[in-house]
Amino acid sequence: MIRSILVWDLPTRVFHWSLAASFAVALITAESERFRDVHVVSGYLLLALIGFRLFWGLVGSRYARFASFVRGPVAAARYLCSLLTRHPDHHLGHNPAAAVAIVLLLLLGALTGLTGWMSFDDLGGEAVKELHEGLANAMLALVAIHVLGVIVSSWRHRENLARAMITGYKNGPAPEAIPRAHGIIAVLLVAALAIFGWNLMRGKLPSLLDPIAATAEKTHAKHHEDDD
Ligand code: HEM
Repeated sequence: MIRSILVWDLPTRVFHWSLAASFAVALITAESERFRDVHVVSGYLLLALIGFRLFWGLVGSRYARFASFVRGPVAAARYLCSLLTRHPDHHLGHNPAAAVAIVLLLLLGALTGLTGWMSFDDLGGEAVKELHEGLANAMLALVAIHVLGVIVSSWRHRENLARAMITGYKNGPAPEAIPRAHGIIAVLLVAALAIFGWNLMRGKLPSLLDPIAATAEKTHAKHHEDDD
């Protein structure tokens, strides 16, 4: 019997909307000197979120696991062709085309964050800065494709996929539901992100937020030790 069943656990939903928010904040503050710290903190949060998602993709609930949805380009092409038919293939978890976008978003997100970190640390010079910008633009294009894919899939299957990413529920056979939302893991994730972000903003992690000053301070202290 088809009814409303839990498909997306809470950590996956918290991850999704926090990733979207941190990407949006990083994008909006990218060009601003005044909000440089906010840009850097949202970049670190994006990296931490991706780190969590890699872990959750291995040990999370059924539809959150990479093994349950990563299928490759042939399956993605087959799914996209099926969208043109009267009865498109339906997937309770991520469809194979969404999976390709998701893997690329995670990869681009990680590379954008890492090259941003490197530029901020003054590693790699102008080339790394250019790469960081190029990767961020590629990610923005992919986000646009991702949102378009969500709209088309929602329309073809007559189901609101964005709402499902908020509530966790989709229509499906009762035995296919996940048994638990894993609320505790989601609370731990939010707490860890809040503590990390808060400490960064308050300057408690100087090597991350002001790497050049932190290195200068270390060198200065070392010179003092040598003089003594
Ligand atoms: C208004 C904006 C957005 C909407 C409505 C949206 C909606 C969705 C939906 C419905 C899914 C599940 C797709 C499926 O059913 O297979 C999804 C997955 C995903 N989206 Fe978005 N998305 C948005 C923005 C973003 C942004 C900005 C990013 C990245 C920066 C992003 C990254 C992802 C990722 C990584 C997943 C996989 C979730 C997981 O399994 O952990 N999304 N999104």
